Amino acid sequence: MADDFCLFLKDSLNIKPPKKSPLVLRMIVLTFAMVCGVYICTICLKQLSYSTKARFLNVEVVEMPCESHNVEPFEKPYVHYPKPKTFSRAECACNPVRLFAILSTQRSGSGWFETLLNSHMNISSNGEIFSVKPRRSNISTIVETLDKIYNLDWLTSASKNECTAAVGLKWMLNQGLVQHHEEIVKYFNSRGVSVIFLFRKNLLRRMISILANSYDQDAKPLNGTHKSHVHSPHEAEILAKYKPTINTTLLIPNLRQVEEMTTKALEYFKSTRHIILYYEDIIKNRTKLIEVQDFLKVPRRDLNSRQVKIHKGSLSDHVENWDDIQKTLTGTPYESFIHEDYKI
Ligand SMILES: *[C@@H]1O[C@H](CO)[C@@H](O)[C@H](O)[C@H]1NC(C)=O
Ligand SMILES: *[C@@H]1O[C@H](CO)[C@@H](O)[C@H](O)[C@H]1NC(C)=O
Ligand SMILES: *[C@@H]1O[C@H](CO)[C@@H](O)[C@H](O)[C@H]1NC(C)=O
Ligand SMILES: *[C@@H]1O[C@H](CO)[C@@H](O)[C@H](O)[C@H]1NC(C)=O
Ligand SMILES: *[C@@H]1O[C@H](CO)[C@@H](O)[C@H](O)[C@H]1NC(C)=O
Repeated sequence: MADDFCLFLKDSLNIKPPKKSPLVLRMIVLTFAMVCGVYICTICLKQLSYSTKARFLNVEVVEMPCESHNVEPFEKPYVHYPKPKTFSRAECACNPVRLFAILSTQRSGSGWFETLLNSHMNISSNGEIFSVKPRRSNISTIVETLDKIYNLDWLTSASKNECTAAVGLKWMLNQGLVQHHEEIVKYFNSRGVSVIFLFRKNLLRRMISILANSYDQDAKPLNGTHKSHVHSPHEAEILAKYKPTINTTLLIPNLRQVEEMTTKALEYFKSTRHIILYYEDIIKNRTKLIEVQDFLKVPRRDLNSRQVKIHKGSLSDHVENWDDIQKTLTGTPYESFIHEDYKI
């Protein structure tokens, strides 16, 4: 438009000038030309600033989706780029995040295992979140809780925030997991949650640990505080002093019940992406932890835990009625539990 206007002016000024005062006319033409130039320049500048502003706004509104480099197509469902409501992922916004759940039973080393995972700078395992009953009262509260955890909005001491590359929780089979297994499997498979099963092979050792732990809940020999896990050999020694007596009538039915529960859980969750770990294998061979890190696709690191094992050495030292237990289990499918399985 500005150009048209100027052309028009030039045209109108192209009329043959009267020869009387050429200087005045020249001055007029020059002035018009200058006005035109300034006018065009201001319009140009205005348009320039509009377009840069618009481009700037675009960047803010339309975020570029994060690219998944080096991710095989079959892995895509397991790779996430959460956008937490509670903080910004800052420079790690486009680092992929994997979701996981450790499915286990009480006194199977999952507390220890979790401290190992959390010693990794990129893993956040948020503990036994469903030990709090209202969170597992129905499938809607379960899904709501899981959504919050997997969106990195569940803030615990384990949260690594920005640069978390694997986020999860520890979940006991009897914490609504088996009860709501159908919906939870559906959730795991649709959200791409990987499952880490962590069980104990020697269920007799586990039983002793349960009895000792429940004794500690009442007796509290550690200065009046109940501790399920300890961080010093001294504390471990005090806790291991207590020797439970195992009711031999209930022994085999109890062992069978735990075995059936874990078999059932493995069956229910077999369609998920999963790995099966045994506490004994990790104790014996720490390279198992590399397998776990590869499974979670996090960079390999040395993992460590400050926890100290409470019941060390031979099982016979940790129960009151060892002879009866031996008699009860000899010749049954559980006989292997009374033999030494590892040395620490
Ligand atoms: C689920 O439990 C929560 C809390 O206990 C309750 O408020 C909600 O109404 C329940 N929802 C359904 C669908 O039962
Ligand atoms: C792990 O965390 C570090 C430091 O917070 C970060 O620099 C790195 O990018 C993270 N790695 C992954 C794979 O997210
Ligand atoms: C109990 O507390 C005292 C003083 O705080 C401390 O010296 C001692 O080691 C504690 N004992 C145990 C078993 O933790
Ligand atoms: C073992 O448990 C059974 C069943 O609960 C009970 O009848 C029996 O008295 C218990 N035995 C001992 C020695 O406590
Ligand atoms: C430890 O486990 C790895 C695989 O997880 C295996 O390759 C290695 O041979 C094992 N080492 C021992 C001493 O059993």
